[in-house]
Amino acid sequence: MTETVLVLGATGKTGRRLVPRLIAAGAMVRSASRRPGEGRTLFDWDRPDTHDASLTGADAVYLIGPELVEDPSAVVGPFLERARRAGVRKLVALSSMGVEFPREPSGSGRRTVEQLVMASGLAWTLLRPTGFAQNFSEGFLLPGILQAGAVATATGDGSVAFVDADDIAAVAAAVLTEPGHAEAIYAITGPEALSFAQATAIIGGAAGRPIAHRRISSDELTHLLLGFGLPPAYAAMVVGDQEAIRDGEGARVTDVVARVTGRPATPFAEYAARAANAWVRPQ
Ligand SMILES: NC(=O)c1ccc[n+]([C@@H]2O[C@H](COP(=O)([O-])OP(=O)(O)OC[C@H]3O[C@@H](n4cnc5c(N)ncnc54)[C@H](OP(=O)(O)O)[C@@H]3O)[C@@H](O)[C@H]2O)c1
Repeated sequence: MTETVLVLGATGKTGRRLVPRLIAAGAMVRSASRRPGEGRTLFDWDRPDTHDASLTGADAVYLIGPELVEDPSAVVGPFLERARRAGVRKLVALSSMGVEFPREPSGSGRRTVEQLVMASGLAWTLLRPTGFAQNFSEGFLLPGILQAGAVATATGDGSVAFVDADDIAAVAAAVLTEPGHAEAIYAITGPEALSFAQATAIIGGAAGRPIAHRRISSDELTHLLLGFGLPPAYAAMVVGDQEAIRDGEGARVTDVVARVTGRPATPFAEYAARAANAWVRPQ
């Protein structure tokens, strides 16, 4: 029988790359978004009245937890209970390598989501990727690149094995459509750890103009994030992640992409060459 997979965050960096992979593997896909239409199903973490309908008939769920919520248990717990009652058997949750950083608070939102997933009674798998390469071309680092030709971080000389969101989607698709991944925790990384200075140099090469890494302090970063309107607890998490990277905690390289998908993880330079159009300044 064809499996039906509910994909949360189906418009996001990993979700929209996962959907075509699942379809190619023969699964039925329900793409969830707060903006339904164009084949998408309405789903909003802030609107539990949308949860049951999205789960009806689903066999598996790709879960991206609610962001900017200090304690997600009140919403994720009941959702997982509804999923179990609806007959969902498999649960693949996108977490973060940040949960492994030594100073991560034990009650952080993303740790709480992991604990709920592991206690869900479903066949769960946790994905813990490192920083996405696409943060530079589709995410929070892009405005600085376009406006100032720079990326400002508090990571100092610390390195990250940036992972291509397409590789995360490939791992998720394999886990969702193949047996043998229950209760696995996959730390997903790219093939080499790079400092932000090295990464921006590669991006500058692909973009054909200089792009710099601007080192800022943790206090400056906090000030910036709060200025963008981020809740203090979320800003503290981002600052904590960057400090951990600065202290060398983010440089880990794993073979998960190759082990789970059978092909090597994408080098950052290959991603940058493919994404170069994103860094063309609007006229
Ligand atoms: N970016 C990284 O470097 C990184 C690294 C490790 C882990 N992660 C984790 O990956 C996840 C995705 O992060 P991202 O920043 O890359 O975002 P993203 O997946 O590119 O976009 C967020 C997605 O969540 C959906 N969404 C937002 N608010 C929602 C709500 N209230 N209810 C339902 N869906 C909602 C959005 O869909 P609609 O707008 O269509 O509703 C969108 O598809 C997060 O859990 C993050 O912690 C990210």
